[in-house]
Amino acid sequence: MNESEHKATLSFSDGTPSVEFPILKGSIGPDVIDIRKLYAQTGKFTYDTGFLSTASCASSVTYIDGDQGQLLYRGYPIEQLAVHCEFLEVCYLIYYGELPNASQFEEFKHLVMHHTMVHEQMQFAVRGFRRDSHPMAVLTSLAGSMAAFYPDSLDINSPEQQDISFIRLIAKMPTMVSMAYKYSIGQPNMYPQNDLSYTANFMHMMFATPCEKYTPNPVLVRALDRIFTLHAEHEQNASTSTVRLCGSSGTSPFSAIAAGVACLWGPAHGGANQACLEMLESIQADGGLAKVGEYMEKVKDKNSGVRLMGFGHRVYKNFDPRAKLMQETCREVLAEMGLENDPLFKLAMALEKIALEDSYYVERKLYPNVDFYSGIVQRALGIPTSMFTCVFALARTIGWVSQWKEMIVDPEYKIGRPRQLYTGLTQRQAMPISQR
Ligand code: SDX
Repeated sequence: MNESEHKATLSFSDGTPSVEFPILKGSIGPDVIDIRKLYAQTGKFTYDTGFLSTASCASSVTYIDGDQGQLLYRGYPIEQLAVHCEFLEVCYLIYYGELPNASQFEEFKHLVMHHTMVHEQMQFAVRGFRRDSHPMAVLTSLAGSMAAFYPDSLDINSPEQQDISFIRLIAKMPTMVSMAYKYSIGQPNMYPQNDLSYTANFMHMMFATPCEKYTPNPVLVRALDRIFTLHAEHEQNASTSTVRLCGSSGTSPFSAIAAGVACLWGPAHGGANQACLEMLESIQADGGLAKVGEYMEKVKDKNSGVRLMGFGHRVYKNFDPRAKLMQETCREVLAEMGLENDPLFKLAMALEKIALEDSYYVERKLYPNVDFYSGIVQRALGIPTSMFTCVFALARTIGWVSQWKEMIVDPEYKIGRPRQLYTGLTQRQAMPISQR
């Protein structure tokens, strides 16, 4: 980052002397006002709940232009990566900063695909849960349990151990996700098949059984691989910010990732794909296309508490580029499965059409986000609704661990400790219970 020649001046109407702050420039995107000395110089904090106008860090991983609907991973447009690269190539790019050449990729693939097994005892951690536990509750626990099973890679200041943790997380997340799924349906775990591709191996662990040979459909494998790429990274979203804040205490990377999994589960964030499909299923059950208009009117009524799940975004005030690619993938998968007339897909298209024309949605710049079509395509792939956010977490692990690494190696990083505007009671006397 560079310091602008210009400054920001803060002046007060109560006669307090004005204060100047540096303006820092990134490579693209909005400049930032460096207010790190604000409290020392003015005795005041800024107030920005939800961080609508606050940059929490400097990062070179991902750039989003919400007005242009642009998403770059290490400078490459998501549209190009989704077409030209496998998800593991994108993982290499996001973590190391460059796309691998053929030999680098073969070495990386071999490394990841030979760390896919989890400690055999981890199965007993899963067995401690009820069978009907939500898989995200199980996955949160399994991710955190890696700190117990892999104590030899907890030194966050060791570059070697940082990289070992990275490989273990990327390699074992699919195995842990499939363990949560198999446990929930009462089937035995399927061990990883290291001779399969990363995504074909995940589908094998999810859908194969010991009783018969399972060969993943290559069209569906490619579709799911692209879904992983679309979910891989997204700058300082809620779960990534959680990973950074949690990791800033110096805790293990596994613990920080577990915090990210926990945050992603929320319906306002990664849980929206499950919530969106449930919304479509409920409209379908209520009458389908004939009920779309009524539903869209209900959404406008603030008292209804109803939101159009899969729509809207804090940053994108134009189309989420991932939603467009997800819609294309959706069409491909539905065609491959012979589900071109899938009623939920038709319902989704009808909702999208209204939202793009109705002034309520247009004024609020509510466009489909990555979660809108994700549920439909995952359902067509045979992934149950309760597993949608686990799939999101599997893919987002590369973004979380890469942002964690960027923070840990930054000489400027320190523990995150926001301040507050106190609105509680001023000091008062505590009386013993005999006098209360
Ligand atoms: C993800 O941050 C990321 O990058 C996240 C993510 C990633 O890759 O990590 O992109 C993944 O989380 C995508 C978002 C998934 N969530 C949903 O689809 C849930 C539904 N959408 C929302 O609840 C909402 O749009 C958010 C949470 C995504 C964004 O909320 P904001 O930016 O805080 O916006 P807001 O709630 O202040 O809404 C602004 C206005 C409000 O109306 P007014 O008060 O101005 O009249 O838009 C309305 C809201 O009521 N609004 C919606 C709406 N989203 C916003 N109205 C109906 N349906 C919606 N979905």
